[in-house]
Amino acid sequence: MDEQKKNMLSLIQPTNTPHLGNYLGAMQNWVRLQNDYNCFFGIADLHSITVRQDPVKLRAQIKESYALLIAAGLDPEKSTLFVQGHNCQHAELSWILSCYTQFGELSRMTQFKDKSAKYSDNINAGLFTYPVLMAADILLYQADLVPVGADQKQHLELARNIAQRFNGVYGDTFTMPDPYITKTTAKVMSLQEPTKKMSKSDENPNASVWVLDDKDTIIRKFKRAVTDSEAEVCAREGKDGIINLMSIYSAVAGKSFEEIEAEFRGKGYGDFKLAVGEATADMLAPMQAEFKRISADKAYLEACMKQGAEKAYKATRKTLQKVHKKVGFVVL
Ligand code: TRP
Repeated sequence: MDEQKKNMLSLIQPTNTPHLGNYLGAMQNWVRLQNDYNCFFGIADLHSITVRQDPVKLRAQIKESYALLIAAGLDPEKSTLFVQGHNCQHAELSWILSCYTQFGELSRMTQFKDKSAKYSDNINAGLFTYPVLMAADILLYQADLVPVGADQKQHLELARNIAQRFNGVYGDTFTMPDPYITKTTAKVMSLQEPTKKMSKSDENPNASVWVLDDKDTIIRKFKRAVTDSEAEVCAREGKDGIINLMSIYSAVAGKSFEEIEAEFRGKGYGDFKLAVGEATADMLAPMQAEFKRISADKAYLEACMKQGAEKAYKATRKTLQKVHKKVGFVVL
């Protein structure tokens, strides 16, 4: 770890494969950030069981998500790529921090309210304390910067409040984490409802392009994308569907809006959609090939996970010991 560099940390849930928006908005950026920060990227297996999971499927998804990080270009030597549950200190710190988090604070979390409505037959305590575990993830690594989507902002804010409270009582212990606002290459909207962001939880199978979709599937989804009744590829107001396709095309093919307008002047939406689909599939192809290669190499994947677990443990041991000392535990 380079003491001169700031720490950056983010975790992703293993239970959903990322979509095109995650790839363009987050994963591609992470790869670029590897040289500028001490990067910690993790798979949030502990968080995923707040909703009932099938064990066989979950195990496969954890490995898949981990392989995807590497396939996307994150370097297990340069960064710390870990599975949350492999570092037991997350759960330990989470317990301690839960004693510094108020019931009322957790009750105000909008994600808890949404999820407890959605999974009303299983409103477990983990669903409620989920943000404390997330705070533990962040504070354990003394993260300066945390790239998060809008849906996680409130959780990050809570992590800051917990840190501040703890530091207030015991003196400087945790680094105050700041949100890292990604300079997104493209804001990717749903292909079916282009005023809504592309989302992992969208029920409509044609709304999202998954990063592991094959070429035919990608092209089919773009062909079905909702546009408008005109026939002009341009970024005029009210043309949300076309604007979405233009910004995706711009991000994946590196073309400006002007160039795109010129390319499709006098052509129909069919041609345009096909071009966006092909360009997207081509952009994802190397990552998908790499994913296939890594996934087939079980020994390599396991070795990376082991190394990641050790690096994660070492990087966080001091923080937890400090916390134990501060709260008055006996440190051996
Ligand atoms: N809760 C986050 C999500 O669902 C995942 C997550 C867990 C996370 N721990 C984190 C994100 C720490 C950033 C930092 O997307």
